[in-house]
Amino acid sequence: MRQNRSSAVMQQRREPHHSLDDFPTPPWATRALCEWLIAQGHVLSDKNAREPAANRGFMARPMTEHFASVEASDVHDYGAGYPVVDYLWGPDPSPVDWTFCNPPFRLAQQFIERALRTSTIGVAMIVRSAFTEGASRYSELFAPHPPAFVVQHVERVPMVRGRYDPSAASATAYSWIVWVAGQSDTRFRWLPPCRKRLERPSDYEVAA
Ligand SMILES: C[S@@+](CC[C@H](N)C(=O)[O-])C[C@H]1O[C@@H](n2cnc3c(N)ncnc32)[C@H](O)[C@@H]1O
Repeated sequence: MRQNRSSAVMQQRREPHHSLDDFPTPPWATRALCEWLIAQGHVLSDKNAREPAANRGFMARPMTEHFASVEASDVHDYGAGYPVVDYLWGPDPSPVDWTFCNPPFRLAQQFIERALRTSTIGVAMIVRSAFTEGASRYSELFAPHPPAFVVQHVERVPMVRGRYDPSAASATAYSWIVWVAGQSDTRFRWLPPCRKRLERPSDYEVAA
């Protein structure tokens, strides 16, 4: 049987229902968003941040290059040394200035809602660009909580299950959705090509 590689199919990140959605984010994408926020006038160097689904640290580590401190945890122990915490269990954690995450797809809305309640300045979530579609997501999430920005990566951000593979290809487009306290007039922006500049050899050493 021929594999269906149509763009509609390739937009889907197929995972079993019980899956943890183990798809690490290439570090350069987080560096790009931090640089973009700084260019918008945000000062990150004296702010604290949380990465509540930190996996192997591919997002949390580049965050430490820009934030004063980063609190990282995950519901599963991937060997990075982070505390094992279910972000959605129990009462809200103490507030931080910023929350960044690549949330597990089927729990993304709950992650975003908790992050919005517990982030005093902003929330940045990298999601498939198709995440902005959907009538129920609109009425339950985007209408009551309009983001400040939808920031589209013009380059593909390849994510593969269970590892960070710099040579992976992808047909899936990714955007950062950014909520900023006091800004509810959603604006669309592009993240220009930056992978070559922001990828570092040490990213691959960690991956190995
Ligand atoms: C798409 S991966 C993102 C990994 C990491 N943020 C990154 O970008 O490299 C989703 C992560 O969510 C974690 N996860 C799933 N359910 C969770 C929960 N209830 N609380 C905390 N982490 C959870 C998974 O273990 C997985 O590491």
